[in-house]
Order: sequence, then C-alpha cells, then structure tokens
Amino acid sequence: MRVTGNNVKSIRTTVGALAAPTSGLIVVALLTAFGGCPQPTDPIPANNTTDPTNGGASYIGSKTCAACHSDIAATQTLTAHANALTPVLDGAPVFPAPSAGVPEPPAGIDWAHVSYLIGGFKQGALFLDADGHIFSTGVDGIATQWNAALPVNGTTGEFVDFDSDATTPVPYAFARFSHETTGAIAFSAAHPLTQENRPGIEGTWAEPGVQCEACHGPGSAHFFTVDGTPQIDRSRIFVDLTGVSTCKACHSEPFGGDGDEILAADGFILPRQQYAELRASGGHRDFSCTTCHDPHLSLSANRDAAIRNDCTACHVSVTKAGHVGKVFRRADGYTEVLSCESCHMPYATRAFSEASESVAGPIGRIGDTRAHVFRIDTDPTTADGQFKDAGTRLRLDAQGRAAISVDFVCLRCHNGGELFTLTTARAAEIAPFVHDFPDD
Ligand code: HEC
Ligand code: HEC
Ligand code: HEC
Ligand code: HEC
Ligand code: HEC
Ligand code: HEC
Ligand code: HEC
Repeated sequence: MRVTGNNVKSIRTTVGALAAPTSGLIVVALLTAFGGCPQPTDPIPANNTTDPTNGGASYIGSKTCAACHSDIAATQTLTAHANALTPVLDGAPVFPAPSAGVPEPPAGIDWAHVSYLIGGFKQGALFLDADGHIFSTGVDGIATQWNAALPVNGTTGEFVDFDSDATTPVPYAFARFSHETTGAIAFSAAHPLTQENRPGIEGTWAEPGVQCEACHGPGSAHFFTVDGTPQIDRSRIFVDLTGVSTCKACHSEPFGGDGDEILAADGFILPRQQYAELRASGGHRDFSCTTCHDPHLSLSANRDAAIRNDCTACHVSVTKAGHVGKVFRRADGYTEVLSCESCHMPYATRAFSEASESVAGPIGRIGDTRAHVFRIDTDPTTADGQFKDAGTRLRLDAQGRAAISVDFVCLRCHNGGELFTLTTARAAEIAPFVHDFPDD
C-alpha cells in the first residue's frame, strides 16, 4: 500500500482576522497555507520558533490574549485543555457542551469544601480539598474518584475508590499539576511557594488549565503600548511549528520526558503518552501531533475540524477492511459506525475507567482513551503479549515499534452478545487479511 498526499488538507491554517482592538497594529505577513504529505518541513514565517520563554517574559493570562485573538480563544475554551483544572467557586463548575461535567462532589463532601476540580471534562475527575490535597479513599474513607459516563466502555457515571492505601493526605504533586496548568513551577528552596498558600499543592501555577501561554510561553513582551497605541512584537511570542516540543512535555511520561518508553499498569497503557506511542507507530513515527490535530479546536465539540487530516486523506485507497458500513450494536445500547479508528486506535489506555466483563466479554479489553500506536499485533504467538517487564511497559520490536493486541482491537466487539465471537487466536489469524475482505 502506498500513501499519496495529493488531497491532504492544509496542515496549518492561515492566521485569521483579528477582532478589535487590532487597528493600528503591525500585522505582518500571513502564515501561508500549504499542503504535503506526510509532514512538510518548509520554512514558515513565524518569528520565534526557538525560545519558549519569550526572552524572559511573564505570564499575563488567557483573558488578555482573548481580547485580540477572540476566534482562537472561543474554540480553545471548549477544549479538554482549557478545562483540565477548574477552581470551584460557587457550586458545581459548569463545563462547555457536550461535557456533562461532574454532578456532585464525593458523598458527604460539600462543594464549599472543594477548592479545585481536576479534570471532569471527559473521562473523570478528582477533587482537591481546601488545603490543596486530593480527596482519597484511604484518608477520607469514601469513594473519591468520579468516573464519567462513557458509552464506549459502558461506564454510566459513578464514584470509585481513589488511592485506598493512602494513610496521609495526598498532595497535588508537580508531576501531576504540571500537565494541568499553565506556568507551573515546582516547590523548591529557590521557589518556596505553594499555590494560594495551600500546603497540599507542591508549587505554583500562573493559570489553571492548559491555556494559551502553556504552548506559546509567557506573553507579557508580545504586547505593549506606545503613546496609547497597542503594538505587537511577534518575535516575543513562541510558536512551536511542529507542535513536538510543546505537546511532548505533557503527552509523554515522565513530564518533559523523551518518550522512549510507553509505560503501562494493570494491563492498560498509562495516560498522556501519545508522544511516545506515536514514536512507536512505525509509519507515523516522524509526524507531529499537529499533522492531525488542530491545537486550538476541541475533539469533543468539533471533532471533524479538530482533526485536520483523517486517515483517508493520506491512505487514499485503503478501505474499512470488510467493515464498510457495518454498525456495531451492543446489548447496553451502545452503537458505533465502524471507522479506521475502531480498529487502529482502540481504547488501550486507561486514565479513569475500564469496561466490566459484562460489556467487554471475558477477553475483550476497553479502557477510556484511544491509543496512538496505530499498529495491530497480528502474530498469534504474541497476541496477548504486548506488555513486557511484568506489565510495566509496552514491548518494542527491533525497529522501536509497538503494536496493540487483538483483545483490545477485535475482541472489544467480537466477544459474544449480538456479534459473533472470535478467540484471540482466531482474530490474530484473520487480522492480516482483513484489508483483503471484500467491501460490500
Ligand atoms: C493587542 C492585541 C494582542 C494581544 C493582547 C495578543 N496578541 Fe497575539 N498577535 C496579535 C497580532 C496583531 C499578531 C500578528 C499576527 C496576526 O496577524 O495574527 C499576533 C500574533 C500572535 C502569534 C503568532 C506569532 C507569529 O510569529 O506568527 C501568536 C502565537 C500569538 N499572537 C499569541 C498570543 C498570545 C498567547 C497572547 C496572550 C499571551 C496574545 N497573542 C496576545 C495581537 C495580540
Ligand atoms: C495545546 C497548545 C496550544 C494552546 C493551548 C494554544 N495554542 Fe496557539 N498554537 C499552537 C501551535 C502548535 C501553533 C502552530 C500552528 C499550528 O499548528 O496550528 C499555534 C498557532 C497559533 C497562532 C498562529 C497561527 C494561527 O493558527 O492563527 C496564534 C495567533 C495562536 N496560536 C494563538 C493562541 C491563543 C490566543 C491561544 C489561547 C486562546 C492559543 N493559541 C492556545 C499551540 C497552542
Ligand atoms: C501543559 C500540558 C499540556 C500541553 C503543553 C499539551 N497538552 Fe494536550 N492535554 C493535556 C491534558 C491535561 C489533557 C486532558 C486530559 C487528558 O486527555 O489526558 C489534554 C488533552 C489533549 C487532547 C484531547 C482533547 C479532547 O477533547 O479529548 C488532545 C487532542 C491534545 N491534548 C493534544 C495536544 C497537542 C496537539 C498539544 C501540542 C500542540 C498538546 N496537547 C499540548 C495537557 C497538555
Ligand atoms: C495520524 C494522525 C494523528 C496524530 C499524528 C496524532 N493524533 Fe491524536 N488523535 C487522532 C485521532 C483520529 C483521534 C481520535 C478522534 C476521535 O476520537 O474521533 C485522536 C485523539 C487524541 C486524543 C484523545 C484520545 C481519547 O480517546 O480521549 C488525544 C489526547 C490525542 N489524540 C493526543 C495526541 C498527541 C499529544 C499527539 C502527538 C504526540 C497526537 N495526538 C498525534 C489522530 C492523530
Ligand atoms: C498525513 C498523512 C497520514 C495520515 C493523516 C495518516 N497516515 Fe497512516 N501512514 C502514513 C504514512 C506516510 C505511513 C508510512 C508509509 C506506509 O505505510 O505506506 C503510514 C503508515 C500507517 C500504518 C502502518 C504502520 C506500520 O508501520 O506498521 C498504519 C496502520 C496507518 N498508517 C494507519 C493510519 C490510520 C488508522 C490513520 C487515521 C487515524 C492514519 N494512518 C492517518 C500517512 C498518514
Ligand atoms: C476491522 C478492523 C480494521 C479496520 C476497520 C481498518 N483496519 Fe487497517 N488494518 C487492520 C489490521 C488487523 C491490520 C494489520 C495487518 C497486518 O499487520 O498484516 C491493518 C493494517 C493497515 C495498514 C498497514 C497495511 C500495510 O500493508 O502496511 C494500514 C495503512 C491501514 N490498516 C489503514 C487503515 C485505514 C486507513 C482504515 C480506514 C479506512 C483501516 N485501516 C481500517 C484492521 C483494520
Ligand atoms: C467496533 C466493533 C468491531 C471491531 C473493532 C471489529 N469488528 Fe469485525 N465486525 C463488526 C460488525 C458490526 C460486523 C458485521 C456483522 C454482521 O454484519 O452481522 C463485523 C464483521 C466481521 C467479519 C465478517 C465480515 C464479512 O464480510 O461478513 C469478520 C471476519 C470480522 N468482523 C473480523 C474482525 C477482526 C479480525 C477484527 C479485528 C482486526 C474486527 N472484526 C474488529 C464489528 C467489529
């Protein structure tokens, strides 16, 4: 199979018109739109692509950016990024549609005792107390983790245990909040501060959630006034053209790591490792996240625009492997129209929840987050063995590639119920030929 790139959508968008108050600003050349497949390396007229500190600038907050970049701000607000950490001010925080948010705090706890909600936008949530500690089952004696309703794995929305072994209050550690905030700094001798003096928070941030300056660096030097007229210095705002260094920091473990390994536990890939997974994907190894993702658009609110290039933009002649037009229907009412992602991006990652046996069958596996490995393990002798080192990481082959086993791919559907059942051995046997099946 050969990939052609003629109909790949423009990898980057042009800089849109800016809303007021932009008159009189130095609006320099538009970023040129261009195509190409896989990822072009043409020079691009952005001004600072190397210094994420913007020359030692300070954080000014996304509301200030929104005053001029209102279009981008309007869509960024709808993303999982913007809603990764939410201060609890007056009852249940309200999330943008289609997120259902979190209906209530854990049993016996009032919203007035919750300072921040971690997550809550999609897969689930955790809660911080007034001291900035994470409510835990071990310390608080109740179920404190919210698993949101997620039709694909049959979760209906429930509280489950979180850190049952905790004997002392669980801090909100830098390793965690660095992913969920903008301008995070760890507590240290040189920075002996905790956010809002809450002792459970091991450092500070400039703004909760992943906002503009998390990816563009602190913005104070990008904007100033001369005689009351706003001026823009484009050399003092960082643009990561490939998205790699920015996205990698939060989407590989540990925070800021190189993504050499894909960590796993309890039979699932651990969350936020899409960078490492992509590096292990073989054919997509050198893609950047922004080849496929628009960094400012929400997958939840606007999926089709948020994905710049669907699979078939590049894999033009590949079809859905004998599953064209097939619709999967499960006894609990979940339905799915088969797509490339149905098989190549299975839910092999678990951030919060996983399917019970009544949903996934005795062998099928469904976590709550799609994997970015894209490759499927069709070797019947290793079909169950994608993990190594006592299940703590994914196995990589001699070329550094991983592959997901058929229990996550085929058996999440073909596990009994209303659809015919496949065993792992049988699925692995058929899998190499599925793209040869006739499409009717
Ligand atoms: C006073 C208006 C104003 C404010 C406030 C402002 N910008 Fe800009 N920004 C502009 C203008 C005008 C440009 C020039 C390019 C264009 O036409 O979009 C620009 C360009 C940019 C670019 C592209 C730089 C390049 O080299 O291509 C980025 C990224 C950016 N702004 C991000 C931000 C962020 C993040 C904030 C908040 C920290 C912010 N801006 C605040 C007006 C503003
Ligand atoms: C998750 C990281 C991320 C966040 C958050 C983010 N950006 Fe960007 N932004 C990027 C990347 C990466 C690019 C490079 C071009 C591309 O791939 O679209 C970019 C490009 C831009 C550009 C220039 C090109 C364009 O698309 O117009 C502007 C202006 C900009 N961002 C402003 C903002 C503002 C304002 C916010 C907050 C409301 C924001 N960004 C939030 C990652 C981010
Ligand atoms: C400061 C940390 C941080 C940075 C930088 C960052 N992300 Fe994220 N990203 C998160 C968190 C936190 C979430 C939400 C929880 C999760 O999915 O793990 C998230 C979620 C996402 C999602 C899922 C959105 C949805 O609606 O489900 C996508 C897609 C994504 N990030 C892409 C990117 C890309 C592309 C970049 C770089 C341009 C990037 N991220 C940079 C922290 C970050
Ligand atoms: C080859 C295309 C492609 C590349 C490259 C890519 N993604 Fe994705 N990503 C997708 C698609 C397609 C989806 C699923 C959209 C859907 O669910 O409809 C997705 C979904 C996601 C999600 C949400 C997963 C979930 O189930 O909640 C996150 C987070 C994410 N991507 C992050 C990243 C990051 C970070 C990178 C770069 C390291 C990246 N992606 C690179 C295509 C890509
Ligand atoms: C921007 C172009 C582009 C996009 C978008 C894209 N691919 Fe690819 N893909 C490639 C290229 C290039 C290769 C490597 C050459 C080849 O295998 O023909 C590749 C290889 C692959 C491979 C083989 C991996 C291996 O090395 O064993 C799979 C599987 C795959 N792609 C699936 C997908 C799926 C599924 C999607 C959508 C979620 C997708 N691709 C989106 C360009 C793309
Ligand atoms: C029913 C599940 C299923 C669906 C749906 C599916 N694939 Fe595949 N695909 C597979 C399996 C299994 C393999 C592995 C074959 C192997 O390793 O020999 C594969 C292999 C591939 C390869 C690598 C082929 C090669 O020879 O290197 C690409 C590229 C690919 N698929 C793209 C796609 C695209 C694009 C779509 C959507 C149009 C899609 N697939 C839909 C199951 C599926
Ligand atoms: C998202 C659910 C889903 C996944 C994932 C999935 N299938 Fe299917 N499969 C279906 C449905 C639905 C049908 C149609 C059944 C029918 O028409 O009665 C089907 C049909 C089939 C058929 C019969 C094809 C035909 O032409 O009649 C085979 C063989 C098959 N799947 C094998 C696989 C293999 C192997 C995998 C993994 C590589 C896989 N499927 C992944 C849902 C799925």
